[in-house]
Amino acid sequence: MNRTHHCAQLTLADLNASVALAGWVDSIRDHGGIIFIDLRDRKGITQVKFDPQDNANLGTQAAHLKPESVISIAGNVVPRPAGTINSGLPTGEIEVAATALEILNVSETPPFPLDDVGGDKVNEDLRLTYRYLDLRRPKMRRNLQVRHRAAKSIRDYFDAQEFIEVETPALFKSTPEGAREYLVPSRIHPGEFYALSQSPQQFKQILMVAGVEKYFQIARCFRDEDLRADRQMEFTQVDVEASFIDREGIYSLFEGMLKKVWKDVLNHDLPTPFPRMAFHDAMNRYGVDKPDVRFAIELVDFSETFRNSTFKVFQSTVAGGGVVKAINAKGLADLTQGENKSLEEIAKSLGAKGLAFIKVEGGEWKSPIVKFFNDAEKAELTAKLAIADGDMVFFAAAPWEKACAILGRLRLEAATLLQKRGKLSLRADDWKFLWVIDFPLMSHDEVENRYVATHHPFTAPVPEDAGLLDSDPKKVRGQHYDVVLNGMELGGGSIRIHQPALQKKVFEDVLKIPADVVESRFGYMLKAFTFGAPPHGGIAFGLDRMVALLCGTTSIRDVIAFPKTQKGQDLMAQSPTPVTPKQLKDLHIQVVMPE
Ligand code: AMO
Ligand code: AMP
Repeated sequence: MNRTHHCAQLTLADLNASVALAGWVDSIRDHGGIIFIDLRDRKGITQVKFDPQDNANLGTQAAHLKPESVISIAGNVVPRPAGTINSGLPTGEIEVAATALEILNVSETPPFPLDDVGGDKVNEDLRLTYRYLDLRRPKMRRNLQVRHRAAKSIRDYFDAQEFIEVETPALFKSTPEGAREYLVPSRIHPGEFYALSQSPQQFKQILMVAGVEKYFQIARCFRDEDLRADRQMEFTQVDVEASFIDREGIYSLFEGMLKKVWKDVLNHDLPTPFPRMAFHDAMNRYGVDKPDVRFAIELVDFSETFRNSTFKVFQSTVAGGGVVKAINAKGLADLTQGENKSLEEIAKSLGAKGLAFIKVEGGEWKSPIVKFFNDAEKAELTAKLAIADGDMVFFAAAPWEKACAILGRLRLEAATLLQKRGKLSLRADDWKFLWVIDFPLMSHDEVENRYVATHHPFTAPVPEDAGLLDSDPKKVRGQHYDVVLNGMELGGGSIRIHQPALQKKVFEDVLKIPADVVESRFGYMLKAFTFGAPPHGGIAFGLDRMVALLCGTTSIRDVIAFPKTQKGQDLMAQSPTPVTPKQLKDLHIQVVMPE
């Protein structure tokens, strides 16, 4: 019985047609001896009717089927009786009266319900163990389709812009400047290792030296990171590099791509250009470099207000070069003791010494610290934070970076608590894109006591600032940009250094990587740049993150067919696993287990 139609196809227009369908038994119902099966394939559902009055034998077979069994049927399209029409289904006005049934495979009872609602309640480990069943759920099927649609849209976009897709190796060399790498032992070269590529960064720059000019790739990347909802050990980047392009060129190229993806996938018109925000403003106003600007709570600086305050905690922080900042979580005065405690714990985990607050209830400021505030200080707080009844104000007194980080996090926690109370509504489809720009080229690593590249060491300084590289590297801005959407870093890139002398200087004089190490890790690149490297720049987007946002989920595991758990395991195939002594011997590897 070859399929004549798929399961979302038949309508009243097909009445009386003789058809054949195949798929999975989604559900079985017995209505007074008549068996109704919802037959499902990847397109949808068609109701099939087995009436014992037409064929007693078929009816008996159908009655014994278990859900998720695979069958094919033949039959005739008939109208559903009045009152049984399902307007929620494209096939809801018809059913197929079966004349033949072939059982292609019976199924065990699935370990969890395969509908969206039931499946969502199930422990994720169980879903990942039986991923092939999980992927049968309509929602997961849709997520895979959205991913395909987005990737296709991206390929079409870059193709139209005359970019070409070039594959680069996954087996690369170890250049430990970024995230921790996965090492792959070489059988042929005992004691030597490849590293799995963290990103095609160096290859795409070399492709610019090779004259490709416009490169893109939907590329798999590998990073041995601690996993989170938005991080996997292997993930996919939309990776791009172009020659003779400046920052403005990259911004409009990418806005064009995102516009097309949102149109193709969601039929939504994204307004462009996206707003831009300097890194310093993002930190100062939102406390993070990836601000969620869907809600208005902002960090306000009160350092000047409290410079001469009698409240010593604030006064001494400012005297010591720190800042006093505050946020007004509007409407959160009904915070419970427990919630307040857990916010304080979060603040402390980020290095706060305490969490001063003002709770405004019945016109009164309830707070352990207001007794220290004079009228001018109170007036300034009221005005700058628009304090009103029902509000909850939090303070952080600390060095600037720390105060920003603490309140940035509390801002997000407050939003979650306000949402729970129905006082704030953040919609997943309120698409607030922005470019974060003007990052510092270098940040100082306190632990290693040296400068590290904020983005990566190939990022070019802003030309006006290049003179400061020797005198004050911290002040140099990089030509680096991030695309942020609703609090998630979607992508990042930069205009690169293309002059070999400047690149060598950044490695050796600024990042303080010894000359011989620079030579062994990056010598090939510096050499390539001596043969006419064009000015170039690029960007990489997290495809998984973008698809997750398009699908309205916050976990990228929901948009990856076979993801790893937070502990880096594949629960279905069961990896990682030990290997045989012979395999290790061939690879010249000896394992020393941790104590
Ligand atoms: P970067 O390291 O910022 O830049 O990565 C670019 C984007 O990749 C995504 N991403 C991840 N997604 C899932 N799991 C992970 N573990 C993970 N790590 C990163 C993010 C991020 O914004 N070569 C440079 C780009 C360039 O300069 O052109 C790079 O890799 O969405
Ligand atoms: P103390 O005088 O140390 O008891 O602090 C008074 C209040 O200020 C308490 O509610 C503390 O939680 C809070 N607090 C102390 N240090 C800080 C700080 N650095 N930033 C914000 N609040 C603080």
